[in-house]
Amino acid sequence: MSKAIFIRHANEVITLKGGSDAPLTKERMEELHIIKGGSVWIEDGNIHAVGTDEEILADYQNRLDEAEVIDARGKVVAPGFVDPHTHLVFAGSRENEFNMRLEGSSYMEIMNAGGGIHATTRATREAGQEQLFTESKRRLDKFLMHGVTTVEAKSGYGLSLEHEMKQLEVAKKLNNSHCIDIVSTFMGAHAVPGDYKENPDQFVDIVINEMIPKVAEAGLAEFNDVFCEHGVFTPEQSKRILEAGLKHGLKPKIHADEIEPYGGAETAAEVGAVSADHLLKASDEGMKMMADKGVIGVLLPGTAFFLMADSANGRKMIDTGVPVALSTDCNPGSSPTVSLPLIMNLGCLKMGMTPAEVITATTINAAHAINRGHEVGSIEVGKKADVVILDVPNYMQLQYHYGVNHTETVIKGGKVVVNGGRLV
Ligand code: NIG
Ligand code: FE
Repeated sequence: MSKAIFIRHANEVITLKGGSDAPLTKERMEELHIIKGGSVWIEDGNIHAVGTDEEILADYQNRLDEAEVIDARGKVVAPGFVDPHTHLVFAGSRENEFNMRLEGSSYMEIMNAGGGIHATTRATREAGQEQLFTESKRRLDKFLMHGVTTVEAKSGYGLSLEHEMKQLEVAKKLNNSHCIDIVSTFMGAHAVPGDYKENPDQFVDIVINEMIPKVAEAGLAEFNDVFCEHGVFTPEQSKRILEAGLKHGLKPKIHADEIEPYGGAETAAEVGAVSADHLLKASDEGMKMMADKGVIGVLLPGTAFFLMADSANGRKMIDTGVPVALSTDCNPGSSPTVSLPLIMNLGCLKMGMTPAEVITATTINAAHAINRGHEVGSIEVGKKADVVILDVPNYMQLQYHYGVNHTETVIKGGKVVVNGGRLV
């Protein structure tokens, strides 16, 4: 059992208390429940106490010498960040396509010409588990250094049963060997493979009848995702795939309205998806339907930034009552980054979100987007001790002093795993 940890005298402890049962919406996204001069007692991997230093001392005074004491004077303590949408496990990189896009080609043109997702699918199919593990572990280490302690990871670069399972097995191994918790999503419907170009419904049938049952039976995923986009999967096909997943216990997620308005947000509400992600082109009606059904909007402003597109309207979504979360979308094509702090900056600068809302969107709401609202995403007694110490005097400086990784210390499950910005 690791030693207890006592974090003391933080300028601000951002607790985000009270949001474990449901994601926060509207004004509640602003309520960070900050304790000034706050302290946290961590033991057995969990949060045992949080309050002012005097409050904690009242109960723990006679146990001080048992604990590793961390002085957080002048700093901010926050829940470990949660990234609820990544394509973590893949091989290779696509900087050649980045250059093509800078010269004017569009993301979809590149994909339709056999590049894009298809290029990464070729590289991922060729890679063995070991290579995939090594490349993905490097990304996980970097996530951790950015204060991220839980990551969702999608398959979707296999596009056949064998290679989708391979990706998911690598995610499982990473989850077992890396301190970051990984929540797996099956995304066999990420693209229509070239062989099925003329008959995409045949591929949809394979996803539904072969892949989903096997993946679910092997317990390799909790969620099921589909790229609902003009030229990829239609809303009807997406619905069929998501409903088939539900029958096998896979909870629905959807890549919706990323490039063109296509009824993705509406489809998410109709199937009762846990989240609809991207939403750059979501309709007002779609947003309302999501708000009514409590579908979380996972916004990915890094993707819009990197594709040189206009961001989703985060402000309008929050005002409409959609619970909003933020994510990197980490993938080799549309968002090759692990910097959730930069995504928060973009949430403020490109989507009209406030510095408080972007914190909620990367902690408790992000946790709900992957069904972990009861375990992580806030600093509350009984929750997992996933905590970051940020080298800023108040949370607003995280957004003001932008483009900088302020992560100094990361505690994961009660253990210090990043110290002075470096992996321990
Ligand atoms: O979320 N849009 C679909 N999927 C990813 C990109 C995948 C890729 O380009 O490799 C996304 O943006
Ligand atoms: Fe994505």
